[in-house]
Amino acid sequence: MKQLCLFVLFVFFKTLITKAAPGDVHIAVETRQTALVIRVDKDQTPTLVHLGSKLRNAAEYAAIQARGKRGEDYTDIYNSVYTPAGSRNLLEPAIQVTHADGNPSLDLKYIRHESQSMADGVVLTKVYLKDPQYPFEVTLYYKAYQNEDVIEQWSTIRHTEKKPVTLHKYASANLYIPAQYYYLTHFHGDWANEMNPSEIPLTEGIKVLDSKLGTRADLFQPPSFLVSLNKPAEEEQGEVIAGTLSWSGNYQLAFEVDPLHNLRIIPGINPYASAYSLAPGTEFTTPAFLFTYSDKGKGGASRSLHRWARKHRIPQGEGNRLTLLNNWEATYFDFNEEKLSALFKDGKKLGVDLFLLDDGWFGNKYPRNNDRAGLGDWQENVKKLPHGLGYLVKEAETAGIKFGIWLEPEMVSPKSELYEKHPDWVIKLPNRSEYYFRNQLVLDLSNPKVQDFVYGVVNDLMTKNPTLGFIKWDCNAVIYNAFSATIQNQSNLYVDYVQGLYKVLDRLRAKYPTLPMMLCSGGGGRVDYGALKYFTEYWPSDNTDAQERIFIQWNYSYFFPSIASCNHVTDWGKQPIKFRTDVAMMGKLGYDIVVSKLTEEELTFSQQALKTYEGIKNVIWKGDLYRLASPYTNDVASSMYVSESRDRAVWFTYLVNSRYKAGSQAPIKLNGLDPAKNYRVQELNVYPGTTSRINTSTATYSGNYLMAIGFNPQVDTRRTSVVLEVNEVK
Ligand code: DGJ
Repeated sequence: MKQLCLFVLFVFFKTLITKAAPGDVHIAVETRQTALVIRVDKDQTPTLVHLGSKLRNAAEYAAIQARGKRGEDYTDIYNSVYTPAGSRNLLEPAIQVTHADGNPSLDLKYIRHESQSMADGVVLTKVYLKDPQYPFEVTLYYKAYQNEDVIEQWSTIRHTEKKPVTLHKYASANLYIPAQYYYLTHFHGDWANEMNPSEIPLTEGIKVLDSKLGTRADLFQPPSFLVSLNKPAEEEQGEVIAGTLSWSGNYQLAFEVDPLHNLRIIPGINPYASAYSLAPGTEFTTPAFLFTYSDKGKGGASRSLHRWARKHRIPQGEGNRLTLLNNWEATYFDFNEEKLSALFKDGKKLGVDLFLLDDGWFGNKYPRNNDRAGLGDWQENVKKLPHGLGYLVKEAETAGIKFGIWLEPEMVSPKSELYEKHPDWVIKLPNRSEYYFRNQLVLDLSNPKVQDFVYGVVNDLMTKNPTLGFIKWDCNAVIYNAFSATIQNQSNLYVDYVQGLYKVLDRLRAKYPTLPMMLCSGGGGRVDYGALKYFTEYWPSDNTDAQERIFIQWNYSYFFPSIASCNHVTDWGKQPIKFRTDVAMMGKLGYDIVVSKLTEEELTFSQQALKTYEGIKNVIWKGDLYRLASPYTNDVASSMYVSESRDRAVWFTYLVNSRYKAGSQAPIKLNGLDPAKNYRVQELNVYPGTTSRINTSTATYSGNYLMAIGFNPQVDTRRTSVVLEVNEVK
């Protein structure tokens, strides 16, 4: 205790308090609940003085006390709003440059700021900064999504020096948060093992999360994290910041607890091998960093991000999605027109909207009969598909479903006509052996000709088959031997690659704004909001074992809304079809099974499940998510989605522990309901031949009762997954 008091006193004196000087300018970036406040002092130095709950008025912002010793030493710039390197700053910088004359220092002073109201409760604040000695400027952008409590921050960097300036580091943001303790939750994994959470206390020094994989950058960890203040993150309580970088390439997230014991968060493009040469008169725009502050724990933070993503980021985020039957696990590369036509009919019988033809349909000189050839040769394989794709599209439509197709247009097989014709389009080093990842190489998207080629692949397909209803865009290799045959500054390659990819996707979206597209990267190797600006949905993992998916989907749900999560019922794992279907329903439902091998009961159940899904999908996709029981600390995993008007909810509970007597022995407390409303609880997806333990009751319960006392879904080793609908009774 004595030690704790001494520690508190120590922190107090270290953060020696000085009142804001009278002439200081305060810039408040506010959402409905939160505020980020920048103070500019008489020396025009901009610092971040508050990130947290919104205060009452400007006077309260002005009264926030400074963290360091003003003007006396370096501590007063620990909370710089965008820390420049090379001069007075001694902590992790947000920006580091070498000027055209070789000077390695930067100073950034405040020039002015402006705020502009955009549509729909969105306010953009720009803060203009400049080096007093050089024609070098940085503008900080803060886009406040007021209703969703999300702030999107990025910066632009430009100069008019005589020669190019080298940007060694160019972060997207530089946050500063005071608290007594900090807990970082980050996520790590690999193929088929995505999104394993680790929560660690942050202590003095720097913790860095990063990727150097180029493409498929999130394979080992995504650029998304949670920081909980003062105590480990809880589901519905406590202060939590959820952050995620919208960038589909190399990134670096630095978390530094400074000598004053405050947390600095510096997210951005990874400076690794990426010293960027910026020509005079040109502008560099960093990717955006998105974050939300919640005083209602991880749950509050995710609900804000979900609302934001649906409304402002994901194409048709508030629209519809297509259920589908995919043939990847059902056939792999082994199919022909006859087999596919039978699958179209199976899809129709099952009741899905679309058939998705996966890998293996292309390549003639080097047919794509396995993953060792053909990528890049996007012509139908004449042996497998003698009548071409147009014929298949029509066949599917005649069977009564739409047709979609798999592509991996950024990649090339060494065994391909494309590689033979354009070896200079491939990322590789001239004097090194080629290294392959899944037997393939990456096309050089920094090259405008390659961008045209990739755009052309999709555009040609769409032009020839205008009713094509879906694209699955895959990306299975990382970048080895990073070197471009065309760009001048090799260290621009990693950045130019991603910008090239976004240029292609921008062009495609301009022409095909409503085409549903799935973002896939050998599973979840590329799930970030940079890419999700273009894709209606993402593939979380090739691991479709429903037991595993409970955990994988649980962790993605911190950041991404269920409408974007493609969950397929497959034959992975040992779970019964009901369990697999229930798990897949917590997002966008699809199938990748051999329908003809289903038993009569399984087929009847699946057909009925698709009909049920039709009636509840909008609550799952657009409702508020409440994670009720975590699979990491309970025998069960339990989550519910509540409609905006709180008149309907869909509630999923699964057994995740198969030990004797495992299950939900006690009621689970619901959340998000209206305490004053009355609800009836009904079971859905009841398997043919079994009876529900719930549907026998006609009892109604108040929202207050369901949230204070709870309800037992009766999950146990004989009832391993239960879906309940909670409907208002008027
Ligand atoms: C990796 C994807 O994640 C799979 O779903 C499948 O499309 C294969 N690629 C095809 O090669």
